[in-house]
Amino acid sequence: MRLFLLLSFSILMLLEGYTTETDEQSLLKFKSQVSEGKRAILSSWNNSFPLCKWTCVTCGHKHKRVTGLNLGGLQLGGVISPSIGNLSFLISLNLTNNYFGGTIPQELGNLFRLKHLFMSFNFLKGEIPTSLFNCSRLVELHLHSNSLSQVVPWELGTLRKLVLLDLGRNKLKGKFPASLENLTSLEELSFVANIMEGEIPNDIARLAKMVDLQLATNNFSGVFPQAIYNMSLLENLNIIDNGFSGSLRSDIGNLLPNLRGLFIGNNSFSGVIPTTLANISNLQNLGMEINSLTGSIPPSFGKLRDLQLLSLHTNSFGSDHSLQDLEFLGALSNCTQLSALLVAYNRLAGDLSTSIANLSTNINILELQSNFISGSIPHDNGNLINLKILSLGNNLLTGDLPTSLGKLSGLEQFSVGSNKMSGEIPSSLGNITRLESLWLFNNSFEGIIPPSIGKCSHLLYLYLQDNKLNATIPREIMQIAPLVLLNMSNNLLTGSLPETVGRLEHLGTLSVAHNRLSGKLPETLGECLLMVQLDLHGNSFDGTIPDLSGLVGVKEVDFSNNNLTGSIPGYFANFSSLERLNLSINNFEGKLPTEGKFKNASIVSVFGNINLCGGVLELKLKPCKHSSFSKKVLIGVSIGVSLLLLLFIASVSLCWFRNRKKNKTNEATPSTLGTFHEQISYGDLRNATNGFSSGNLVGSGCFGTVFKALLPPENKVVAVKVLNLQQRGAMKSFLAECESLRNVRHRNLVKLLTACSSIDFLGNQFRALIYEFMPNGSLDMWLHPDEVEEIARPSRTLTLLERLNIAVDVASVFDYLHVHCHEAIAHCDLKPSNVLLDEDLIAHVSDFGLARILLKFDQEYFLNQLSSAGVRGTIGYAAPEYGMGGEVSTHGDMYSFGIILLEMFSGKRPTNELFGGNFTLHSYIESALPERVLEVADEKILHNGLRIGFPVAECLKLVLEVGLRCCVESPVNRLAMSEAVKELTTIRERFFRSRRRATH
Ligand SMILES: *[C@@H]1O[C@H](CO)[C@@H](O)[C@H](O)[C@H]1NC(C)=O
Repeated sequence: MRLFLLLSFSILMLLEGYTTETDEQSLLKFKSQVSEGKRAILSSWNNSFPLCKWTCVTCGHKHKRVTGLNLGGLQLGGVISPSIGNLSFLISLNLTNNYFGGTIPQELGNLFRLKHLFMSFNFLKGEIPTSLFNCSRLVELHLHSNSLSQVVPWELGTLRKLVLLDLGRNKLKGKFPASLENLTSLEELSFVANIMEGEIPNDIARLAKMVDLQLATNNFSGVFPQAIYNMSLLENLNIIDNGFSGSLRSDIGNLLPNLRGLFIGNNSFSGVIPTTLANISNLQNLGMEINSLTGSIPPSFGKLRDLQLLSLHTNSFGSDHSLQDLEFLGALSNCTQLSALLVAYNRLAGDLSTSIANLSTNINILELQSNFISGSIPHDNGNLINLKILSLGNNLLTGDLPTSLGKLSGLEQFSVGSNKMSGEIPSSLGNITRLESLWLFNNSFEGIIPPSIGKCSHLLYLYLQDNKLNATIPREIMQIAPLVLLNMSNNLLTGSLPETVGRLEHLGTLSVAHNRLSGKLPETLGECLLMVQLDLHGNSFDGTIPDLSGLVGVKEVDFSNNNLTGSIPGYFANFSSLERLNLSINNFEGKLPTEGKFKNASIVSVFGNINLCGGVLELKLKPCKHSSFSKKVLIGVSIGVSLLLLLFIASVSLCWFRNRKKNKTNEATPSTLGTFHEQISYGDLRNATNGFSSGNLVGSGCFGTVFKALLPPENKVVAVKVLNLQQRGAMKSFLAECESLRNVRHRNLVKLLTACSSIDFLGNQFRALIYEFMPNGSLDMWLHPDEVEEIARPSRTLTLLERLNIAVDVASVFDYLHVHCHEAIAHCDLKPSNVLLDEDLIAHVSDFGLARILLKFDQEYFLNQLSSAGVRGTIGYAAPEYGMGGEVSTHGDMYSFGIILLEMFSGKRPTNELFGGNFTLHSYIESALPERVLEVADEKILHNGLRIGFPVAECLKLVLEVGLRCCVESPVNRLAMSEAVKELTTIRERFFRSRRRATH
């Protein structure tokens, strides 16, 4: 018998015409399609090694043919070679968790012995090939998290052996295929996170072995699928985020007695909670949030001994007056595993004090906000020791804040805003050192703001407004470095605003409106560079407005109703985000500017300042008297300019320099450069760089070498870029060209200070550009710290917000260069190593204009450099049309900018070894959006202090989408830089706003 079997086996193999060699050839072909960078893992796959010893390969005992290929999690990229279809003895294929792109090869359908197919977590696109349904022995099919599209083929219903089918997180559309009723062995089925629609066919009631059914996040509709009531073995059911409606059958608990997880949230279900749910003794997680359910929350849930999560928020449970509504809270004290209880946004009434203290000690999250709950917070809250989130806001609570709250040392969010509480804020709150948001607003708290709150060193949001707090603002608050929002308005605070407010460098909102504050505004206010909303109105502040010229992102400034004096600073005119500037009812004087934002009377309010004049007509100020002063200054300046010009012409062979002449530019910040000294010669530069020593070398690119230099007499630090120009002569026009570049100014360009065109000590041409020095190195170093030598490595990683700021900085300088400059100027070599960061991590683009100089003076060399191996690093950033001899254009910069955006937020270089052929950084990110954005995001962002609830994924998705649109293949279809600026700024603002809303 055995002999016979063996014989027939061999005959079969002969008939198939395949042998071990075929397997070898197929695998080698497969390997050749894996992207180069990771092929090394498969180094044992070569002819000098026996096939069955190749890594990740399993062979059959007798016939020595490949039966298993387990390549899961090896980070392999490239495409799946059709040759895999020749491994005719394959039973199990595991490609899970790789970077394979392209489509699923048709040829897989030849693998008629295949039982287990794992291809989840890749970047596969296109349809599920119908040939796959020839693999009639398939038991499991895993295609989760890819980008498969089109409808789910009805032929799927022919795979009658299937036990597990996972098509979750793709882009599949169409209806639930009724043919699935034939898969009567099916135990697990997932269509989660696709775009499928329609009702769930009743015929699938035949799938009586179903244990795990996942239909969440689609557009399915109709009543609760009746077929499900037949699946008595069901343990997990998740249909959240769909359009289901109607009510649940009252006997559901008896029909589905094995449920552990039931999730029906975010649909349109109505009716009451069936009390039979309390009969499902294994139930651990029950989620029915965001529906239109009514009635009471059954106290019989107390019988569910394994209950961990009860999420019923955003429904209409309760009566809004009956004290019985909270009875269930007491009953839940039997559920010792309970860790999250979410019943916010209902109509629950009742007395809090009697009900929460006995909840499980495992409870982490307790959300009761926006109900009609009365009573006070119990002083004995010993059981709540592990709470992280306690939300009681918007209820009818009275009484004071118990000192014992300080014992809840793990609390991260605490909210009692909008209640009727009173008494003093206990200083023990300072013991809750993990606290991130504290919402005490809109109560009747009185007394001081306890200085101990300064010990809450993780606090992001502090809402104290609308109370009766008095005394001074404790200076300790200004020590809470991460603070993003500080609202103390509508209290009875006295004294001044602490001088150290500038330490709060993440502050986006500061409001102290309607208090009794006085004194001068602190100078350091101008250091809160991320400020968006600054509201100081209704106090008695005096003195002048401090230098706020750095707050360029501010949207709303309200200084009205104070005693402020002095003139109104002109820099507000250029704050592009400014929507409201209210300076009314003060003692400001002098001339109101008329340009920029001051043109718009709906943005600026200045009434009630008797000594103010000028401004646009609508503001109805008196006209200013003329003075002859300004004329004199003008003449003086123009004489200075002519002198300079003379000097410039006279010193052609020497290096020119800049003096302190203020340029007319669009920059909002004043120049930070001190007086620049006398002429610099080649010799001076040589001395300043220690003879161009390697110790001073900070980088070298294809067009030159950069040295750090200390220029006497003040030892000013500058960067000297020595150009590799081959061409002789044209010294004079070189300097003229540099001069014209020097006049292109923007706060996000590295300032070109001077240039040097001279002869070195050996008689060779020497040309160098001298730039301001950027202490924080390049964006490249920050994005890829592991590739940087330890000594120069940044001490931390960039946050999401910092990256957003840098993106906006770079975009705005390019918008300026492309559109607002007298002639559009392309950069041609934009890449992260050309984006430098100053001490405040503000981005400055370097090497701008170099392309123009090089094109002009050494075109041959420039083009050679572009096409030679010397610019390998730039490959990946250069637009595809450059490679085909396309003209230098602003569209090319757009492409590079798009790639930089993708790199900044994914952490992957375009030249990463993953990519090859058609699988590029662009296609990699494109296929992951929108659902899998967190998988392609730079992990360093996600591990960088982001808190739950922030719409991080949303923000990343939007930015990456902008990036994708900037670097599409066709130059004319790319986004324009002005659009990119607009979109990025909007994203940044939305992120800011939602960060603030996040903990509500
Ligand atoms: C498939 O590969 C993944 C690696 O990511 C692994 O976790 C999984 O256990 C593998 N499956 C089998 C059946 O070997």
